[in-house]
Amino acid sequence: MSSWDRGAEDVGNVQLLEHVNLTVPDQSLAALFYVTGLGFTRDPYIDFGTLNMWVNLGDQQFHFPTTLPGKAAQILRGHIAVVVPEIEGLLKRLAFAAKHLTDTRYSCVQRDDYLELTCPYGNRIRAYAAGAFPQMDMGLPYVQFDVPCATSDGIARFYQQVLGCPATASGGVAVVSMGHNQQLRFVETDAPLSDYDGHHIALYVADFSGPHSWLNERELISEESEQCQYRFQNIVDPESGQLLYELEHEVRSLSHAMYRRPLVNRNPASNFFTYRRGNEQFSPN
Ligand SMILES: [Fe+2]
Repeated sequence: MSSWDRGAEDVGNVQLLEHVNLTVPDQSLAALFYVTGLGFTRDPYIDFGTLNMWVNLGDQQFHFPTTLPGKAAQILRGHIAVVVPEIEGLLKRLAFAAKHLTDTRYSCVQRDDYLELTCPYGNRIRAYAAGAFPQMDMGLPYVQFDVPCATSDGIARFYQQVLGCPATASGGVAVVSMGHNQQLRFVETDAPLSDYDGHHIALYVADFSGPHSWLNERELISEESEQCQYRFQNIVDPESGQLLYELEHEVRSLSHAMYRRPLVNRNPASNFFTYRRGNEQFSPN
């Protein structure tokens, strides 16, 4: 008889929560915060110009397309957790970047076990040191969304029954497992929520057609993007059909060309003064 907990290794249908997409009016301010400050890596391959910027953190990414002229930055209604190798170096990098982030919404508050950050455009980020989450020393362990009261049970049912994710709901909080080391969290609040502004997340799923059939029967597919990708936006209670929350999901199959594309990650501690040959790359766990 095995003494190992074999069930602890099981994953649901979502194999990877890959990116969060937030439009920004000014790439240079986003780069100062996410690349210079947080220490993540601008993807050298896609997208390399000034109209979009992909930023790699471990096996995950932020996508920052430039907003159309006159449009505001997209703001996620909640916060995004990130893991960096260590906090001391992060504080130094942020102090350097902060000199150029005056007159923005940037802020940094040190909490017991994380840094509570606001990006120049108002997105909230919690930065944890490696070790705070299992099997991740750089990356994006969870995204947390503020949701209306009395929606968390239905949201958990949606991810469980429609997307095929392990999910729990308790005390107004739904926790949805993504892959082996990531989560979506939905926390009920009675505070007013801003209107949904179109930001999105991207997921890779093993069962691609099952969720599509369920959503398509209910006219909930918002975009038939291509063979390996579709999108939906409405999270509904599968029992009642009631709309619970809006969040665009980019759903991709495992044969999508970008599934687990090797992402370039630099060692955030490597800079002009600390450079040593061979020390510039980071191989995230
Ligand atoms: Fe996307």
